[in-house]
Amino acid sequence: MKKKPIRDGKAPAKGMDVSDEYADSYGETHKKPIDLEYAISHSSYLLLDGIQDQYELLDIGCGTAGYWRLMGRWKQIVGLDYSKKMLAVAREFVDELGLRNVELVHSSFRDYDPGQSFDAIISGTFGHYDPLTKEMLDKLNGMLRPGGVLVLSFQTPKSVRHALHVLLRRDRLFRYPGEFVSFMTRNGFDLKLTTSHAPRISFFGGNYSCFFRKRP
Ligand SMILES: C[S@@+](CC[C@H](N)C(=O)[O-])C[C@H]1O[C@@H](n2cnc3c(N)ncnc32)[C@H](O)[C@@H]1O
Repeated sequence: MKKKPIRDGKAPAKGMDVSDEYADSYGETHKKPIDLEYAISHSSYLLLDGIQDQYELLDIGCGTAGYWRLMGRWKQIVGLDYSKKMLAVAREFVDELGLRNVELVHSSFRDYDPGQSFDAIISGTFGHYDPLTKEMLDKLNGMLRPGGVLVLSFQTPKSVRHALHVLLRRDRLFRYPGEFVSFMTRNGFDLKLTTSHAPRISFFGGNYSCFFRKRP
């Protein structure tokens, strides 16, 4: 099979060292056999693959992308990451697993111009790495087809202290789940499903994958 080179886009000079450092250990997690725990921790991808067929997916911050081994019904996947090291490990997985119609792009989301639209976009980077601004959401919106699925993660505060810190911040567009959902609703997205990897419901330290549908 002809190997596609990693497409070079723009990526910032700073901030990549951290993810570069984790590339090998993330990569190792995808070499183990698939068990329940593994499937649950990457369940957003399983769901995306189950609810669509022959879809075009943009995976922002794909890292080593080894979890793509859980999927199989895509027409095209574009994996975007600003860490070259992560993408080098991803490249090995893609070749080893013989995954077809996959493109790896070295770029930050901010500087990325795909020149195409997608049926689904998934990213765990907003909120965690970068705040989700109106500008970023507009950019995501512009890349997604009407009726398309956007999966974003939302973290609840880690402690009471952290909750107070978040609530007092005036520079955030949203601070708690209700504000996040109304921000998305105001901007053309309906929340359809929320999943969590945690085996219990807890007030603090939750990490939720939120499945939004772009209004047709
Ligand atoms: C938690 S890691 C994902 C790891 C992946 N799930 C795996 O198993 O390898 C998040 C990734 O997002 C990338 N990232 C964060 N912000 C980004 C941005 N604005 N543009 C592109 N990549 C970004 C980081 O380089 C990192 O590889």
